[in-house]
Amino acid sequence: MAYQNIFFTMEGEIAIIKINRPKAMNALNAEVLAELNAALDQVETEAKAKVLILAGEGDKAFVAGADIGFMSTMTPLEALHFSQLGQGVMFHLENLPIPVIACVNGYALGGGTELAMACDFIYASENSKFGQPEIGLGLIPGFGGTQRLPRLVGKSKAKEMCMTGEMINAQEAKEIGLVNKILAADKLWAETMKTAQILASKGRVALRAVKRCIDRGYDVDRRTGCFMEADSFGLNMASADAKEGMGAFLEKRKPEFKGKLA
Ligand code: CAA
Repeated sequence: MAYQNIFFTMEGEIAIIKINRPKAMNALNAEVLAELNAALDQVETEAKAKVLILAGEGDKAFVAGADIGFMSTMTPLEALHFSQLGQGVMFHLENLPIPVIACVNGYALGGGTELAMACDFIYASENSKFGQPEIGLGLIPGFGGTQRLPRLVGKSKAKEMCMTGEMINAQEAKEIGLVNKILAADKLWAETMKTAQILASKGRVALRAVKRCIDRGYDVDRRTGCFMEADSFGLNMASADAKEGMGAFLEKRKPEFKGKLA
């Protein structure tokens, strides 16, 4: 598929999606979201993709939110569908069987913070800013912000951010557990790639199981989560990667994971 609003490339085993509307600060309209969905389908069918990096084109914004011009004329029913479309993209990212790193350079606001939170973790440049400023537009977050933000940073901080609409800088985002790592802008891409390469060197089956257990387990009680973990642990033991990983340790060599279940 030829994309108009995003770039999709593979660098070895690393899939890269960049949202490419820099003149509109990479704001998300229905077309961008549809293209993101299509690109995520493409990542899933790309057999060699072991990691995805999601970024915004340019050095100003990751994504400055849902497209305000696009939303300004919506009927309530259109807004409901737009919210469901955006939430679908977020679930698509969460359900992707490979790890996803959000590489945030600049503003990640509203739908931008929501998109970054749907990734497995966030690396951000020193100049990044995060926030849920929808309240200032007379709106509320619509792409999962009221649900993912409290799970990540706690209920009261999430309420403060969604109710005041105030932006927070990268340092504060790291302190509250939203961002994993802060990097100088000129080092951000290289460091994100370095982590992507580390992930790509691990076993695909085990990575997928970790992602599933943490994401699914987070939404259920601890006992149920532990049942899920035990099931996954057992199933994972059947994988060729598990034999290879443990065998390599015992033979004092580096493992060569093939990503095969058996
Ligand atoms: N939607 C549409 N266009 C946007 C946009 C957005 N969310 N954010 C920025 N732009 C556009 C601006 O309209 C402007 O376009 P023009 O050059 O054509 O006028 C261009 O991007 C550059 O923006 P600014 O001139 O405002 O740049 P700045 O450096 O002064 O400010 C900013 C940058 C702080 C990000 C500011 O643009 C801003 O506050 N943007 C809106 C942020 C926001 O409220 N996001 C939440 C959207 S609602 C949402 O996301 C709901 C949801 O959960 C689904």
